[in-house]
Parts: sequence; C-alpha cells; structure tokens
Amino acid sequence: MVGMDSAHARLLAEDLAEGGPSDARLRIRIGVPALEALQRGDAAPARRALRGSTDDPTATLARLFVLGDAMPAASAADALPRLGLTGAEQMGVLSRRDGLVVPLVAIRPHQFDEQPGWIASDLDELAGVFPLRADHVLGVGGAGRTLSAMLPPSGSGRALDLGCGCGVIALHLRRRGYHVVATDISERALWFTRLNAELNGLGGIDTRLGSLFEPVAGERFDLIASNPPFVITPRTDGVPQYEYRDAGATGDALMAQVVGQVAAHLAPGGSARLLGNWEDAPGVPGLERVRGWTAGLGAWVVEREHLDPVRYAELWVRDGGTRPGTAEHQALMDAWLDDFSVRKVDGIGMGWVVLADIPGLARFERVPQHVDTAHLGSHIAEVLATAERLAGLDDARIAASVLQVAGDVTEARHHLPGAEAPSVLELRQGGGLARTEDVDPALAALVGACDGDLPVGVLIDAIAELLEADAEALRQDLLPRVRELLLTGMLRFP
Ligand SMILES: C[S@@+](CC[C@H](N)C(=O)[O-])C[C@H]1O[C@@H](n2cnc3c(N)ncnc32)[C@H](O)[C@@H]1O
Repeated sequence: MVGMDSAHARLLAEDLAEGGPSDARLRIRIGVPALEALQRGDAAPARRALRGSTDDPTATLARLFVLGDAMPAASAADALPRLGLTGAEQMGVLSRRDGLVVPLVAIRPHQFDEQPGWIASDLDELAGVFPLRADHVLGVGGAGRTLSAMLPPSGSGRALDLGCGCGVIALHLRRRGYHVVATDISERALWFTRLNAELNGLGGIDTRLGSLFEPVAGERFDLIASNPPFVITPRTDGVPQYEYRDAGATGDALMAQVVGQVAAHLAPGGSARLLGNWEDAPGVPGLERVRGWTAGLGAWVVEREHLDPVRYAELWVRDGGTRPGTAEHQALMDAWLDDFSVRKVDGIGMGWVVLADIPGLARFERVPQHVDTAHLGSHIAEVLATAERLAGLDDARIAASVLQVAGDVTEARHHLPGAEAPSVLELRQGGGLARTEDVDPALAALVGACDGDLPVGVLIDAIAELLEADAEALRQDLLPRVRELLLTGMLRFP
C-alpha cells in the first residue's frame, strides 16, 4: 500500500464535495429503489442506471468508487479536477491501465448523524471482489452501523476504538466530541482510518498499531468502543483467516480477552460498548459465560440473536464470499461444524456488551425483537445513569420516590372472547428496546398512577387497600419490579 499523504487526501475531499456520489446525488441519478438496493448490497440496479454515463462526474465517481468499475481515464480526470489522475495514483486510490482507470479502494457515502460524509475501505463483494483477501479492510457493514448507533450522542474526554478497521467508529466518536485513539493490528486499516479522517475533515484521531490493548497499555478512557474480530473460526488448514473478523483465537477466547481487559482501561465513570459473539458450553449458556468474563464490572449484555452451529457456519462462510454448491463451501462448512462438534458447542449468541463500574448492574438477557436503533446510544446512556442512581437507593428510598411513566409506554389488555376482565395485561415500550412486560393488575395500576404526583409507597398502599391486599407484601412484590421498569426506561424519575 502506498503511503497516504494529507495534501492529496484533502484534494480528493474537495473533488468529492463537488461531485462525489453522496446519497442525495445518487438518489437523483439512480432513484430511491436502486439506492436502497445498493444499501442492501445489490449493485445491479445502480449499475444498470449508471451504465453509459461517462461525462457526469458524480456518475463517474459512483461507478469507480461505489461500484468498483473501470472507467475511461478522460472521464476520471474530469471527475477529479483537483486531485488529478497522477495524484490519485500516488495516493493509491486508482491505477491506470490501457486508457482506463481502475479503482483500488471503495469510497462510499456515509451519514454521520445529520452530516453526510465518506468512508473509504477495500473493494468488496458489492464491487465484484470475492472471495475477499485475507487482509481485507471492511467498509461500513451492519455491525459497524449497530455499534455507531450504540455510541453516546455526545461526549468529552478520551475514547478508544479498538480494532478500528476503516475508522468509522473512531470518526463517529470524534464527531461527537471525544479525543480518539484508534488501534488496529493492520497497518492497512490504520491507513484507511487516517484517509477517512482527512476525507471528513476530522483531526484529533491518534492511530496506533498493535494487538488488542497493547498500544494503550497503562492508559484509561472515558469510552471504549469495539467491534472486535469476534468471529468464531475453526483452526483448520485451508480455512482463511480474515483479519477483519478473526484474530486467530480458539472459539470465543478473543471476546473473553477483550471483555476481561476493559476494566483495566476504563477511567472513573467511563463505559464500554462492544459487539460480540459467545458460545454456549455444555450446560452453560453463552450469556452466563460472558458474566464470568466481566471482571467485577457492572455489565448489561444483550443477546440479539442465537444461532445453531449450521446457521452460524453458513453466515460466516458466505460472508467470506464462498458460494454454496462449491467444493470450497463444503470444505469450509465441514471445518466449522467439526470445530463446534469437537468442542461440544451447540449454540452461539450474538449481541452487545455494555460495561461500566456500576455496582449491582448485572443484566444478561435475550432481546430478539426489532429495535429501532435511531436513539439506541442515548437509551444506553440513560440506562447506565439510572443503574447508577438505583445502586444508591434501597427499597425504602424507592418507595419514597415520585415517579412518572415514560411517554412511549402504552398498556395492552387481552381478553378471552366474551370475558369482562383481561386475561393478559402488557406494558409496551415504543422506544428503548421496544420491550413488552407482562404485568398484573396491581403493577398496571401502579404504573398508571405514576404521574409525578405521589410517592410510589403511597400509591402501593392505596392499591393494597383497593385490592384488599397486605400493603407490606405488595411493596415487597412490586418494588423490585418498579426497579426493573426504571432500569428499562418504562418508568422515570421526573
Ligand atoms: C470487525 S472489524 C471492525 C472494523 C470497524 N471498527 C467497524 O466497526 O466497522 C475488526 C477489526 O479488528 C482488527 N483486528 C484483528 N485482530 C486484531 C487484534 N489482535 N488487535 C486489534 N485489532 C485487531 C481487524 O484488522 C479489523 O479492522
């Protein structure tokens, strides 16, 4: 890889600002359905719409850097008036061949919250490149999008992006106000991170080469974010070791290492947001194994999906670009399934890990329902703040608190046909993690009465009288569930 110099990168940024294939420009050139297909990983409708365009700089840059097509040198020169083809070659984003230019990297639009920007990465399946090279540097995928949604909406102090790849997480952190250290074991990944910082006009990202926490030994951070190379991969000859997803450990040992080392690198009051995969061991569900890795930190671990070994193997064999029906696909599936079978793994969890030094925070749960990630980062921040507050409140103080039901909570009542009384009562959360909580009439009445006026204990006493129940017993029953509703954001401190 040729060295990246800032002067050329800034010229490229200017050319992209003028004619680059932003979402807004692509929407006009190729239409919304083709743009959505592109975002789903299908380039065919976009290629069809742009075929034959050689004199429109946006179409030229889209064909080159979004779709990975070779283009006539004259069109590319027109589309890059400041950088020029020589500059583009020098910085390693294009090469010239027989009157054509061939892209060496992908450069695609990326939305930084409200702000449009660019992310450069290696050319991939969307650009017709498969199988991927072992040192492939990933663009923005589903996992990167999820982790960026999990980040706090704003922050200050120091943040670490461990395993930064193209740098998308580091850039989001920098935009949100952190001073960022971005680490990776791949020099090539750090090159992309620096390039992307330049393309998006962001300073303040310190890139460091090295494995896991080695480049930040002895340092502490207010936020640690990582989409680490967590993919469980068989250690069998012939199985490619993709740097972008696999650090060479057996099973989920890499995940255990990352989670276990967070405590030593968190500043007081800091938190970590990680993505990961974990295996069920015989008799021990994966979530319980993650509990064992957290080294005394408060933890909120959310298993979003749980796959059997076949589904897990299919997912990652295909992710590397190997198609079913080929001998290579069979060999890789055999290797994955042999590995799980030998190690007696019959399920794999995939999800999020949030860590913070909060006593008593220990949630290990499955959340399979659809979650709108638009406000996920602020929801996580609210959950951590509530957990911290709850850690200092015993039941008597919760009973003395005045609470409010959150504005996004609705109550659903299900009746058996013809029955007057509901047989099922549910509270449903519109935002947060879109939870549904089964409640009984006493809790439903309490939540309904939480309007910021009377303390919880007074409300429970009134409900006990109404239901002719023992007030103390009702407190003992309801207060832990009030705690739970506070933590999940269904109830709030005003
Ligand atoms: C799944 S990618 C994440 C990239 C980016 N942060 C994102 O979310 O899209 C994982 C990254 O970890 C890097 N990596 C692999 N092994 C590593 C190690 N031992 N230490 C640090 N980073 C490593 C890979 O090079 C890759 O860039």
